[in-house]
Amino acid sequence: MPPADTMTMPRHVAVIMDGNGRWAQSRGLPRSEGHRAGAESVRRILNACTEFGIPYLTLYAFSTENWKRPKAEVDTLMKLLCDFLKAREKDLHKNKTRLLAIGQIERLPEKSRTVLEKVIASTATYTERTLILALSYGSRDEIVRAAQALARRVKAGTLEPEAITEELFAGALMTAGIPDPDLLVRTSGEMRLSNFLLWQLSYAEIVVTPCLWPDFDRAQFLLVLEEYGRRIRRFGGV
Ligand code: IPE
Ligand code: IPE
Ligand code: MG
Repeated sequence: MPPADTMTMPRHVAVIMDGNGRWAQSRGLPRSEGHRAGAESVRRILNACTEFGIPYLTLYAFSTENWKRPKAEVDTLMKLLCDFLKAREKDLHKNKTRLLAIGQIERLPEKSRTVLEKVIASTATYTERTLILALSYGSRDEIVRAAQALARRVKAGTLEPEAITEELFAGALMTAGIPDPDLLVRTSGEMRLSNFLLWQLSYAEIVVTPCLWPDFDRAQFLLVLEEYGRRIRRFGGV
């Protein structure tokens, strides 16, 4: 494997962190233990991004569909979010990382939302690195909301339908101002998008690894980045 400092690094990595439940199950543990171990993986990958000089990292932490899970599991995930933010706030400052969130933040329990908003505000001035957490996020919901926002402007007479370009539409999404991901990683072997960044991933390189998210570490990440470095991105050209 080439050393990390000679590899072509993506500017933006998006991750579908999957497999916490199966990781726990295979050890005879409750699913909650898998989520706990998954939070540890998040810490490792965040540090690896700093080390490798990857400025944007988006993590799919909770989907709009995940609300269908048993209440106890949802509660565990929301509690882990709070704990994670409290434990990692210092690191975010140390590594000059701005925190952003995309998704239906208003649906999160008040406790999680309060901590989230506090850390977002306290890291808002950093420009070196950005961590984007997708929370109660669904891509179709995001696209519908963008369409509604633009429709309201058209109705108000401040926007001509013909003025709606790809750039304008992208600017109405929750990811406004963030470059599209270059690389999508999904752990645990599932070959699907599960309603994640449908617009933004149009030209991302996709790497699916069988590794379960709690087992995903710096070495696994390097393997994925090496695979990314081998891809020839044509963007429809020759
Ligand atoms: C990913 O792990 C975490 C979330 C979706 C919140 P899962 O909980 O989906 O784990 P599996 O897919 O059941 O193994
Ligand atoms: C996708 O994983 C959502 C997150 C990782 C937060 P899921 O485990 O919810 O997706 P499906 O059910 O396999 O599509
Ligand atoms: Mg899953």
